[in-house]
Amino acid sequence: MAEAGDAPPRTVSEGPLPPERVCAGAELPERGRAVVWDVLLWGRPARAFALRFDGKVVAYLNRCVHVPTEMDWQDGEFLDIDRRWILCSIHGAAYEPASGRCVGGPCGRGKLTALRVEERDGEVYWYPSRDIAPVRFDEAPHPPPSAP
Ligand code: FES
Repeated sequence: MAEAGDAPPRTVSEGPLPPERVCAGAELPERGRAVVWDVLLWGRPARAFALRFDGKVVAYLNRCVHVPTEMDWQDGEFLDIDRRWILCSIHGAAYEPASGRCVGGPCGRGKLTALRVEERDGEVYWYPSRDIAPVRFDEAPHPPPSAP
């Protein structure tokens, strides 16, 4: 039994998860088409996207705050015609690209779920978290169907 003055129990820290490559930085032109990729959100399939805005790469889950659905009106196209806001193609919610904050429409005071990204040496990486994990296509292969 622990007594007052004993050292606290040691805990095992998992540490940060290693980054995953998204794309080459050159694939993200200023206020251009986003790169979209598959992730697992709480173990379920979801998609994320990265785009460049004011020179900085930002990334979010492709999931509207209003209704949890994908937002792009064409694959990788998230910005409005003036290339100023991220727009949800379903009911028109508008989000600030730099912060993911809702600025108009039915998303209320919500915010897009941001993924941590980093651009270094000409490459863009994202950092998995406890909630958002990479999809591993080479894991757990299905067994071949048995012969009749
Ligand atoms: S689902 Fe995005 S605004 Fe309604």
